Amino acid sequence: MRILITGCKGQLGSELMALAAVIPKVEAIGVDIDSLDLTDSSEVEAFLRRERFTHVVNCAAYTAVDRAEEQKAQCAAANIAAVENIARLADELDFRILHISTDYIFDGMACRPYDESAKPNPLNVYGSTKRRGETALLGLAPESVIIRTGWLYSAGNNNFVHTILERGRQDKRLEVVVDQTGTPTYAADLAQAVMTVLTAPAWMPGIYNYSNEGIASWYDFAVAILETAGMHRQAEAVVPVSSADYTTPAVRPAYTVLDKSKIKATFGISIPHWQASLRKCIAAINII
Ligand SMILES: NC(=O)c1ccc[n+]([C@@H]2O[C@H](COP(=O)([O-])OP(=O)(O)OC[C@H]3O[C@@H](n4cnc5c(N)ncnc54)[C@H](OP(=O)(O)O)[C@@H]3O)[C@@H](O)[C@H]2O)c1
Repeated sequence: MRILITGCKGQLGSELMALAAVIPKVEAIGVDIDSLDLTDSSEVEAFLRRERFTHVVNCAAYTAVDRAEEQKAQCAAANIAAVENIARLADELDFRILHISTDYIFDGMACRPYDESAKPNPLNVYGSTKRRGETALLGLAPESVIIRTGWLYSAGNNNFVHTILERGRQDKRLEVVVDQTGTPTYAADLAQAVMTVLTAPAWMPGIYNYSNEGIASWYDFAVAILETAGMHRQAEAVVPVSSADYTTPAVRPAYTVLDKSKIKATFGISIPHWQASLRKCIAAINII
């Protein structure tokens, strides 16, 4: 199995590279924007023809949700055109694609977890381009796997966990939205699930949801980060605010809890609770 991991310097991509390195019979090659810009169709084609992979795991994306509102074209290029550049060669070059998508394709109006058949209705540019990337992929390479996830964090990159820890260390007043509900997802756990899907005895195309178990608001998540890191006084001082009081360029869905029944049943995956995985992440950060 020779796998191309795009976005290999990102949160998920770097976890996948580390995991693939210890799995026998898996050879993983990583690329990121500095080595292969996926929006450059001729470069992508030349690279894929030369290197020949059995699988492409597409972790590359434009993920700056607020900046995307201004940089629509760049966001669309990375989240739609780049996907097309890979997907149009899948059949001819005989590789499978596992693509990562997002809970932000939903409008958040549901009151129970979204399953894979729920109707997408993105509220912001990022979500809209990710949804169009899904549609483009399934049009060009219908045998692909799409894993939708949400609220991704890792030990090694800039993300919500690092931001909250830094604010806690600086003892700064912290206001965090309490009326957006989802599930934090530890990139290392998602990487394990991706590997399980890739190495399953049979390729099972389709859309799957994956996040950690449980639900939380961003406020709950922030408090848990500080508590887990031993900053109890700072955790108690976090101020819950509404989205209306904490406006951002991109509108975010209020509720994006994902139903993971399908991936658990299909691949026999058991998923850790987000609080357990947060403890692993904080422990890993303390080691770094
Ligand atoms: N982060 C989240 O909370 C979240 C939630 C739900 C779903 N997802 C999805 O999960 C996947 C992985 O997310 P992540 O958090 O690991 O993302 P990430 O940390 O932002 O990593 C994405 C990587 O892709 C690279 N990239 C961007 N444009 C590219 C291009 N044109 N060609 C090649 N590489 C390019 C980025 O480079 P630069 O950093 O230089 O741009 C970055 O290294 C993405 O599909 C994302 O949409 C993420």
